[in-house]
Amino acid sequence: MLPRHFRALVLGSSGTIGSAIMRFLESHPHCEQVIGLNRRSVPAINYDAIDSIDSAYEALKTGPRFHLIMNTIGALHSDHFMPEKKLADLNASQLNQQFMTNAIGPALCIKLFSQLIDPAGGIYANLSAKVGSIEDNRLGGWYSYRASKAALNMLIKTASIELRRTKPNLIVAAIHPGTVKSRLSRPFRGDELGREPDVAAQEIFHTLEKLELKDSGCFKSYSGETIPW
Ligand SMILES: NC(=O)c1ccc[n+]([C@@H]2O[C@H](COP(=O)([O-])OP(=O)(O)OC[C@H]3O[C@@H](n4cnc5c(N)ncnc54)[C@H](OP(=O)(O)O)[C@@H]3O)[C@@H](O)[C@H]2O)c1
Repeated sequence: MLPRHFRALVLGSSGTIGSAIMRFLESHPHCEQVIGLNRRSVPAINYDAIDSIDSAYEALKTGPRFHLIMNTIGALHSDHFMPEKKLADLNASQLNQQFMTNAIGPALCIKLFSQLIDPAGGIYANLSAKVGSIEDNRLGGWYSYRASKAALNMLIKTASIELRRTKPNLIVAAIHPGTVKSRLSRPFRGDELGREPDVAAQEIFHTLEKLELKDSGCFKSYSGETIPW
């Protein structure tokens, strides 16, 4: 789906996977331009200041169209919380924050930034997580992260159905990056179990470039296999 000379936009370019994707695209011979947005860029994307999504869209909407948009923003823990181990850990503040970062913010980004994809063809990929798969949930725990990624998956799938009608050359996909050594995974033996971010970026890109229009609305892992919802 990507033309020989493509333009890309990475949301969450300050993150471990986001910055690795930036490096990968900056050195890709066919990537004409890559723009990265994050909480400190100008314009910024900050889900804690939700209007920043509209402002960033306004700033980009008169520029040239993109062929690849990747949203890599997400959170599993913060200075204030760690993933819940048991029902007794559930609290409204963490659930709200996780839904905002992993589902609401990404959905509002799809609403606006999908308008910036070249009508001739393009890919909008949002990083999700296999632990958001309801069918694959065997271990339990991580309530708000799992539930917010499951909500994200539904939002992506639903958007893909509408966009298939209004933007027939657009692929919308939820991508599980696998375990990657990162700030997000570090407290959970990520450095021991995860892959290098630069390897993950390359694998994710190779899976994306193989997607076809019929794949729009898919939930795939970095290695290209379909993950059950
Ligand atoms: N690493 C893994 O093993 C793994 C596994 C499965 C899925 N994932 C998914 O992959 C994505 C990237 O993860 P990562 O490992 O690269 O994590 P990371 O290094 O912690 O990066 C997270 C990114 O999200 C941004 N972010 C977090 N909260 C935000 C908010 N409220 N508003 C705007 N930006 C916000 C961060 O911005 P700042 O730099 O400003 O903090 C950073 O750019 C996430 O969606 C995650 O769920 C990762």
